[in-house]
Amino acid sequence: MSTVEFEQPDGTVTSVDAPDGDSLMRSALTNLVPGIVADCGGELSCATCHVIVDDAWIGVVGPPTGFEDEMLDATSAEREAGSRLSCQVTVGPALDGVRVRIPASQW
Ligand code: FES
Repeated sequence: MSTVEFEQPDGTVTSVDAPDGDSLMRSALTNLVPGIVADCGGELSCATCHVIVDDAWIGVVGPPTGFEDEMLDATSAEREAGSRLSCQVTVGPALDGVRVRIPASQW
């Protein structure tokens, strides 16, 4: 189990306990965190699970690759250095305490 922090556009932070192996997207949906729409259920076809990884965590989470990288050009919010699709980021001990921001356009 790891802790994930979701920062909303108004600055409020929701901290959730996420089972290792779950995606950030799944942990958000399970805990009713607003702003993660995830229309496609994690099939990498909707880009409605966009999050921006906190600067301090970008190196740990790592960059998007392949089709996720292309999909990030189709999100409703402008892409940033820490942009990831949360369905493609797997929770694990290395990410315990990770913080991600939810774009205002997904609210
Ligand atoms: S849930 Fe659709 S791309 Fe992530």
